Amino acid sequence: MSINILAIESSCDDTSASVCQDGKILSNLIANQEIHRAYGGVVPELASRAHEENIVPVVDQAMKKAKVDLKDLNAIAFTLGPGLLGSLLVGSSFGKALALSLDIPIIAVHHMKAHVLAHFIDDPKPDFPFLCLTVSGGHTQIVLVKNHLEMEVIGHTIDDAAGEAFDKTAKMLGFPYPGGPLIDKNAKLGDPLAFKFARPRVPELNYSFSGLKTSVLYFIQKQQKENPSFVENNLADLSASIQHTIIEILFKTLLMATKKTGIKRVAIAGGVSANSGLRARLQQVGQEQGWETFIPQFQYCTDNAGMIAISAYYQYLAKDFAGQEVIPKARFGF
Ligand code: KG4
Ligand code: ZN
Repeated sequence: MSINILAIESSCDDTSASVCQDGKILSNLIANQEIHRAYGGVVPELASRAHEENIVPVVDQAMKKAKVDLKDLNAIAFTLGPGLLGSLLVGSSFGKALALSLDIPIIAVHHMKAHVLAHFIDDPKPDFPFLCLTVSGGHTQIVLVKNHLEMEVIGHTIDDAAGEAFDKTAKMLGFPYPGGPLIDKNAKLGDPLAFKFARPRVPELNYSFSGLKTSVLYFIQKQQKENPSFVENNLADLSASIQHTIIEILFKTLLMATKKTGIKRVAIAGGVSANSGLRARLQQVGQEQGWETFIPQFQYCTDNAGMIAISAYYQYLAKDFAGQEVIPKARFGF
């Protein structure tokens, strides 16, 4: 008999539902919330309201696309955290109610572990152990992945996340939220060495991105005093130089992590792993260092329920179920 799981992801501003059968993703639907663009960032209250509007049609479409009937589901999974509490509540309440009505188990999934497990959706799947650089809007972590369920964060950011560094500097360049993909696009036409920005020294395997933000801000302010059109005239070079700096910061510590652990299997995950410069750099460094590298498909980089479904599949095999009393966690350690 097949194992059919419906998974819901609602931790931030995207409502997503996915159906997985025996570890194969049959559907992965995502409703993006454009409303936040006007505010330059995610507005939590608006995000929860949009999740409420989107969740029924998104789940409905995911089930239809997968051609799986509600009565054939074996479990309902949802993101337990970390994330915005109001957003998490919509997905978890919906998931719990549906599981109760169908009398099937609940699987509560850790959002950051799920970003890592997105590597088990398609082939080639990494062998254990491997290192995963998980870079998103809220987190930047180097994760030592021991098996599908056991992971250890061996390095993390002490302030901003890499995605935040992209989005906040993008805002200084006049790009709408989220600016990360626009920096990526503009960087393709620019010189990555045109401008030099601060690279912090952080102890151990940790990261810091707040200094870069300040460095870009002061540099732009100084240049604009002499040339008010400096940003408009240098969008490509500024984008390329900012992107290059973020990637170099990420790789310096990642390299240290591979040396310290002796692990030469390296993956990237999370929204920022969609960045073309980061993807190319992983391939290049991987070749130089003799690493086996893993890069997820674009649709599984940014938030999606496919990664929640694949995580839930491995939790199902391990009988890692949650009770109806489980509540979402805005902050959620490994
Ligand atoms: O994983 P994700 O979808 O949501 C969180 O869990 O935070 O990551 C979103 C982040 C945003 O900061 C966005 O700007 C960034 O990923 N991002 C990118 C690219 N695509 C998404 N950053 C740089 N280049 C991209 N192509
Ligand atoms: Zn995420």
